[in-house]
Amino acid sequence: ALDEGVTLKDLPFKFGAAVNVNHMKSRPEYKALIIKEYSSLTAENAMKIGALHPAKDTYNFTDADYLVDFAIANGKRVHGHTLIWDSSLPAWIKNFQGDYPAWKKMFESHITTIVKHFKGRVASWDVINEAFDDSGNLQNTIWRQHLGPNYIDMAFIFAHRADPAAKLFINDYGHENGNSRREGIIAYVKALRTKKVPIHGIGMQFHTRYNRGTSSWTKAINETAATGLLVHISELDISVNPDGVKGYVPTAERLAQQADAYKTIFKLYNAIPKAQQWGITTWNLTDNDSHLKSRPDYPLPFDTNYQKKPAYQGILDGVK
Ligand code: G3I
Repeated sequence: ALDEGVTLKDLPFKFGAAVNVNHMKSRPEYKALIIKEYSSLTAENAMKIGALHPAKDTYNFTDADYLVDFAIANGKRVHGHTLIWDSSLPAWIKNFQGDYPAWKKMFESHITTIVKHFKGRVASWDVINEAFDDSGNLQNTIWRQHLGPNYIDMAFIFAHRADPAAKLFINDYGHENGNSRREGIIAYVKALRTKKVPIHGIGMQFHTRYNRGTSSWTKAINETAATGLLVHISELDISVNPDGVKGYVPTAERLAQQADAYKTIFKLYNAIPKAQQWGITTWNLTDNDSHLKSRPDYPLPFDTNYQKKPAYQGILDGVK
């Protein structure tokens, strides 16, 4: 039986969700679940580059402000996602014409305008999202093409100037998949720290699968924590149909395996030093809202009817 009276808001560290603003506006049950179970919110899409900065001289903060106002009114922390990314870019950036100074000016004013807008209301930012390849080297993003590899240093410096109190993260995926990717990211972050670049934490997305294996999760979490920086498991979901079998419906056994995977990950995270725990955020709330829904997949702790799955108890067991 589930532990009655306890919610995931009561975990020993922040428990967050990526939330969809359209669902918040149109589904009372969705909003109620956020209020009940979560202590930190990330915008699934409303704080992406194209959402906030749709044209060169145009910013649109309507949806993001709705989310942030809701979070503050309900006592939730907000994690910003994401200032710089190479994906989901608006056309005006893809087509931006200009020399290095023009790119730098655009880049700086993008970061500065957004961080200042949310100053004091957004506690932390994914300053850089998905900058690495599977070998752990920097990808040749559009930003790197025009600004050089130093774009990463600059992004953190500009964000820190705009809100010196905000905790700044580098966010990526696949830390648990292969050693070279994770080791490359960790080495890069250590070099940034040596250069006194204001970076405070590592975001591990953790889009994982029920059978990835304890040793992969252990290495990812422990080696990242060994940097001494903040660690955010920033986009957790645990696939039960990683091979994308059409029409797949999870068995009770598979949901129990998923619960066990949640338990393992929460247990590992609970064991890292408290001062480094920025929290665990799942990528949306229910299986119905997951970005993997069409696979089909059922990767989250709540089912399509907003009900607790075995994974919910797995999470509670993980922090016992
Ligand atoms: O905005 C249009 C909307 O007007 C239209 O009705 C709808 C119909 O297709 O499409 C809408 O845009 C989609 C948006 O999600 C909202 O549903 C985009 O096409 C689609 O690309 C976008 O996908 C998001 C994806 O990032 C790309 O930005 C996913 O929801 C979101 O879950 C996913 O999140 C990423 C993280 O940011 C980074 N890490 C991986 C993670 C999962 O892929």
